Amino acid sequence: MDPTRNPYSPGAGNPPPALVGRDAELETIRIAIERLRRGRFAKSVILTGLRGVGKTVLLQEFRRMGQSRDWVCQPLEAGQGMRFPQAMAELVRKVLLRLSPAQNVADRARRALGVLRSFQMRWNLPDGAGELSMGLDPVPGWADSGLLDEDLAALFTEVGAAARERGKGVLVTVDEVQYLKSKDLAALIVGLHQVNQEQLPFLVVAAGLPSVPALAGEAKSYAERLFNFRWINSLGADDARAALVEPADEEGVVWQPAALDRIVDETRGYPYFLQEFGKQAWDQAEGPAQITASDVATAVPMAVDELDTGFFRVRIDRTTDSERDYLVAMASLGAGPYASGRVASTMGKDTPGVGPVRDKLIKKGLCYAPRWGEIDFTVPLFNDFVRRCLRGPESPVAV
Ligand SMILES: Nc1ncnc2c1ncn2[C@@H]1O[C@H](COP(=O)(O)OP(=O)(O)OP(=O)(O)O)[C@@H](O)[C@H]1O
Ligand SMILES: [Mg+2]
Repeated sequence: MDPTRNPYSPGAGNPPPALVGRDAELETIRIAIERLRRGRFAKSVILTGLRGVGKTVLLQEFRRMGQSRDWVCQPLEAGQGMRFPQAMAELVRKVLLRLSPAQNVADRARRALGVLRSFQMRWNLPDGAGELSMGLDPVPGWADSGLLDEDLAALFTEVGAAARERGKGVLVTVDEVQYLKSKDLAALIVGLHQVNQEQLPFLVVAAGLPSVPALAGEAKSYAERLFNFRWINSLGADDARAALVEPADEEGVVWQPAALDRIVDETRGYPYFLQEFGKQAWDQAEGPAQITASDVATAVPMAVDELDTGFFRVRIDRTTDSERDYLVAMASLGAGPYASGRVASTMGKDTPGVGPVRDKLIKKGLCYAPRWGEIDFTVPLFNDFVRRCLRGPESPVAV
């Protein structure tokens, strides 16, 4: 069928044509924003889930919700090697300037920009677009202690107070939070703790891999109480069908029930896969207004190939030979989670011997430890991919 009308949108952070099965999360954020608007307490939220379940698109949706209530919404994506104080200073600067456009910097925001200047000077950071030239001097004694958690807490509090004064609020989303260094994550937690206590309209929603709750707990023991952790999962069968049917319906196209069943079965309801299989099925369908089981049968190998060369492949591009050996050993044991000891013995080694490789895979975000002594892939259905593409049962294939 006409590919120009194809509604499906596989791809990291690509908004789906129908965002289904996430009403509870949307409601959580709606309530948090409303409560903070009324000067009441609301917990910050952390979304965790495997790759491709829809964390990033949810963060986007939350920002849209915030914007429609006239909140200033600012995204941050953490990356390995990111300089966190600098990233925070840049984020706060953008937020403050949007809270108070330059020609009309209200008193409180002016002071907050001064506090930001203190922070920038203390942490040897550039002053962005030159607040000093706007006549904004640092505010000594604020956000300049040299202790990141205290300074961040002071900064967040200023931002929250400036927002409240203007009758607005601030929503910051932090994606890929598993890449934050432990001390940076700890500082973020302490900063949020302080703003929360003062019930200022400053809300952070973070998202990351399933390792995040453990990382947050290690960084600060009270993180568990401070955050509302939400597990973002694959979609149930009805929602998975709706994710395919609703966008087609808008184009006047119907899915044969057997065609839908096959895709739900192949994808296990994982959102990224649903979009990919939906897209291929649409393109393969003869049409003009129906997608049949035979169209899907033609599309399945194409969708698998597309995932193998894209979604899955990018995950292993940065791995070393020994890391790949570890992944192959995991996959040879079937579906996860896997006992770390069993993975090691499959490789003919003991657990401490492969510990460094295991740790690297966790740091790179390819694996996580669901429980102590266990390991699993962060990418759904990755074990099938590893068996398919990394090393076949008889013939070792280099990727
Ligand atoms: N609720 C949903 N219904 C249908 N499709 C969805 C839904 N959520 C996400 N998708 C689709 O799934 C794909 C992945 O979404 P997204 O990039 O947000 O995942 P993610 O969890 O952030 O993945 P990663 O951990 O790799 O960053 C996108 O193509 C998106 O359109
Ligand atoms: Mg994402």
